[in-house]
Amino acid sequence: MDMDELKDIHDRARQEHVPIMKDDGMAFLLKYLREHENIRDILECGTAVGYSAIRMAEVRWDMQIDTLEIDPAMYEEACRNIEMRGLQDRIHCHLCDAADFVTDRIYDLIFVDAAKSQYRRYLEHFCRNTMPGSVFIFDNLNFHGIVDDPALSGNRGTLQMTRKIKTFREHLLNDDRFETKFYPEIGDGVAVARKK
Ligand SMILES: C[S@@+](CC[C@H](N)C(=O)[O-])C[C@H]1O[C@@H](n2cnc3c(N)ncnc32)[C@H](O)[C@@H]1O
Repeated sequence: MDMDELKDIHDRARQEHVPIMKDDGMAFLLKYLREHENIRDILECGTAVGYSAIRMAEVRWDMQIDTLEIDPAMYEEACRNIEMRGLQDRIHCHLCDAADFVTDRIYDLIFVDAAKSQYRRYLEHFCRNTMPGSVFIFDNLNFHGIVDDPALSGNRGTLQMTRKIKTFREHLLNDDRFETKFYPEIGDGVAVARKK
């Protein structure tokens, strides 16, 4: 495994302000995968340049990942990075709106890191692709602290979106189809929702 290559993908994404997951959020996700050896099939909403998909795929050789990206330029770069790592047989990148992706596949883990205002929609849309024990992991449930402290942003669009995130967070914590743990201090606010 060439660690320099991986570091280059990470550092380039940070330099170019591609919103890849925070390093501690990534470490949490990878630790979760290592501790749950049953996880084989993963769906990721929000590929960006493929960094998180590559990191996940490199935890265990037997994992398959479908990852969804709406932006053609991101998608192209993700495909290049995935090929560079030789992971094209295990990471399948789809250029689409996550909300339009339809499959019969059942996933052990669904990592949601795409359009923040659409989290509720993704939860309902992909519920059919889970079984008891499957988990959803959501990032950005704090949205840089603005969800809990709207005074941090004066931007109307951001405030509307963070209100939606707050409503979603409250919904998820009360949704009795799932056992949910919220980790406000990890990444940008991570929730793990396990299907009962
Ligand atoms: C936070 S980034 C993903 C970061 C990536 N998971 C990582 O940590 O390496 C979110 C990505 O979701 C994509 N996105 C936004 N809306 C989307 C949608 N409706 N469907 C699919 N992808 C979407 C954006 O273009 C962006 O690349």
